[in-house]
Amino acid sequence: MTEKPGNAVEIDAITKSYGDTVAIRHVSMNVQDGEFVTILGPSGCGKSTLLRMISGFVEPTTGDLRIAGKSVVGLAPYKRDTAMVFQDYALFPHRTVAENIAFGLRMRKTEKKEIARRVDEMLELINLKGFGGRRVSEISGGQAQRVALGRALVVRPSVLLLDEPLGALDMKLRKQMQAELKKIHRELGLTFVAVTHDQEEALTLSDRIAVMNAGRVEQFDVPETLYRRPATRFVADFVGGANLIDAEIAAGGQLLVNGKPFTGIGAEVIGERKVGEKVSVVVRPETVSTSPSEGIANGPAIEATITEVLFSGAVQQVVGRFDDGSTIVAHEQALKPPPDRGSKAIFSWDGSLSWLVSR
Ligand SMILES: Nc1ncnc2c1ncn2[C@@H]1O[C@H](COP(=O)(O)OP(=O)(O)O)[C@@H](O)[C@H]1O
Ligand SMILES: [Mg+2]
Repeated sequence: MTEKPGNAVEIDAITKSYGDTVAIRHVSMNVQDGEFVTILGPSGCGKSTLLRMISGFVEPTTGDLRIAGKSVVGLAPYKRDTAMVFQDYALFPHRTVAENIAFGLRMRKTEKKEIARRVDEMLELINLKGFGGRRVSEISGGQAQRVALGRALVVRPSVLLLDEPLGALDMKLRKQMQAELKKIHRELGLTFVAVTHDQEEALTLSDRIAVMNAGRVEQFDVPETLYRRPATRFVADFVGGANLIDAEIAAGGQLLVNGKPFTGIGAEVIGERKVGEKVSVVVRPETVSTSPSEGIANGPAIEATITEVLFSGAVQQVVGRFDDGSTIVAHEQALKPPPDRGSKAIFSWDGSLSWLVSR
């Protein structure tokens, strides 16, 4: 039998206020040893504040925070077994790559020979062999990102904290660095806690994701569950984008949309909800397809007027408007000819892939 991993980080009922601003509202969550956890949410929701409390640069107002089982409240950052990759990297531009990486080891008064050995080892890991002598002001943004990563990892922290680590990179470089980050995480087996506002990045990188909204964690789960079984309307919308169709629970486990019975949503999805409860049906755009009005649809289907057809390479986005003014988006493979704008079409989808959230 394999032993259950312990908790690398335990955030226990933490609140953080800045005067009248409550940045973190009673958050509790545990990060397991070796996990890659991402804190995801819109700008200003409290992600950096939470990360900085783990690192020790910010202290909680109330609550406890434990690293490897020990409370670290009041403990200086350099005395915690963590290292941070800052959003703007915070490198020394006029020093060399090797000097930047060596920084934390010098602070810890590591022996010179050992520093040289570990810097070399790190240059290899971050794919910058031969760049040790370059000044940071003379390397690219992607390379600077790696140096920041190397500088944090060289002190061998048990928890690596990353604040929007790839935010400054262009799309292509970002994709490449996502793959590298994942590889480094796998190779080192350390605990990573990252912060991002980019849902795709969070889904790609993480073992688990904590979705934050206005200082609270709304859901903390594996990517698939966040996407398929969002706990709240906010999570449904923020992670992946969703059609949210307003509905109401009727007697006998039925669902009403615009007062009319709506079939095709499984009883297991409706579950224990009460009659009269107002809900939204979560329908992912890639599960929706359009067909001509006279056609027959399988599963849930609503007729709508096509208001927009946007071609974006592999998929075409078809936007429809229902009679009540609400809209629906279908992401279809751009293989078939698109429907005409202004025409009517049936939007249908696989009801077994739908989900319900409260509203
Ligand atoms: N040092 C500070 N002083 C006052 N307010 C702050 C400070 N740091 C953050 N805040 C506020 O706390 C909230 C959360 O900020 P932050 O954690 O930086 O959000 P995020 O990283 O998700 O964008 C914001 O309203 C922000 O203005
Ligand atoms: Mg931030």
